[in-house]
Amino acid sequence: MRRQMRRQMRRQMRRQMRQPLQCRMEKFDIAVLGAGAAGLMCAAVAGQLGRRVVVLDHAKRIAEKIRISGGGRCNFTNRDAGPAAFLSDNPRFCRSALARYTPADFIALLNRHGVRWHEKHRGQLFCDDSSEQVIEVLRRECAAGQVAIRHPVEVRDYQRESDGSFLLHTDAGPLAAPALVIATGGLSIPKIGASDFAYRLAERFGLRVVSPTPALVPLTFTAQWDAYAALAGLSVEAGVSTGAGASAGRFVEDLLFTHRGLSGPAILQISSYWRSGEPIVIDLAPGRDLAAWLIGEKHGARRSVATMLADAMPARLVATALSRAGVTGDARLADLPDRALRALGAAVNAWQVLPAGTEGWRKAEVTRGGVDTRDLSSSTLAARAVPGLYFVGEAVDVTGWLGGYNFQWAWASGVAAARAA
Ligand code: FDA
Repeated sequence: MRRQMRRQMRRQMRRQMRQPLQCRMEKFDIAVLGAGAAGLMCAAVAGQLGRRVVVLDHAKRIAEKIRISGGGRCNFTNRDAGPAAFLSDNPRFCRSALARYTPADFIALLNRHGVRWHEKHRGQLFCDDSSEQVIEVLRRECAAGQVAIRHPVEVRDYQRESDGSFLLHTDAGPLAAPALVIATGGLSIPKIGASDFAYRLAERFGLRVVSPTPALVPLTFTAQWDAYAALAGLSVEAGVSTGAGASAGRFVEDLLFTHRGLSGPAILQISSYWRSGEPIVIDLAPGRDLAAWLIGEKHGARRSVATMLADAMPARLVATALSRAGVTGDARLADLPDRALRALGAAVNAWQVLPAGTEGWRKAEVTRGGVDTRDLSSSTLAARAVPGLYFVGEAVDVTGWLGGYNFQWAWASGVAAARAA
């Protein structure tokens, strides 16, 4: 029986080998590369608009970033996903796509499929049960559009044909389509399939690429950080800021001290704005002008300055703040000159730190930079100079804040390209 099957397979392979290449070439209306958030959404919408769509991915498991997102519950959008929450060399670029596919649209999609969800905080929406449900919704939407999803498939080479269509040479055979959507994402987390495919392809077709850097990533410091080793594990609400003018960022969220540096939502957020060599300013008592408060409390105060400070911040931070300001903790508040209290205020409200770097692609949630928006249409995500070529999702120079914004960009840009392609 087995021998018979083997013989049959060999005969089939020989038949395929004898067929001329052109005969085996499959044709589609749209080929989407990358079966992640943006690629699957794009494929589903295009398929349901009646286009013949194929999605190719080199990974064994598709949509892996959706699977691991939001601690396994996928923070799938943010109610406040407006353009102000996105970084790009052209901050206006994301407006059009975001306006035409909104968080309410994605919520309606999940509702139609019976996925239960909840708001955690700051407009962040998560699945009640599992991020697998979002993947399942996308799979079902693709099935409704008769989309062919193929993986693991490697695209070995590609070229533009004289009729304008794109010919893809894959390890599963050649295929051609007049529209090619690149949804291969950014560079974060290489071990689950991230690649620089989008940037290489863009450059080969003459598009510019804004240098990609890790974003939403913990920050590291030099050996001098050892002075704060005892704080590792401590989480506090803090204000963090960096930069100036249009490129400035400021967030008030939780900050986590780690053995290597700083992490937590506040730091992940500010990391997207941070430029190498620039300091970050940390406010360990956000909403309280510490110097003004201490000076106001000083007259007649019997308590030590350390005891007073412990009312404003976790005790473990008090000693480091005093030492940075050069103030002795057991000094009575009343005995300290205003000058010393102002120094203490600056050490707490405006602690300036100089990161040495980031934890890199291994830990970054997203990529800042990507295919330059100057070379793309903001309404269709099409390459201006290459008809039929589209870039969606994280491959594009559009990076959202932490909190569901990056998925909203993936959905919205995928839909915009699907409607145009
Ligand atoms: P995505 O990376 O999802 O998909 C790209 C696909 O292309 C992958 O399937 C990959 O295998 C494939 N591919 C790559 N190179 C290829 C090649 N050469 N050939 C073929 N296929 C190729 N965002 C958010 O809004 N809320 C959240 O909760 C989280 N949580 C989160 C956690 C973690 C740990 C990470 C790393 C990231 C997040 N994010 C997030 C960010 C979010 O996951 C990300 O922005 C989107 O997945 C981007 O969607 P894309 O479809 O553009 O790329």
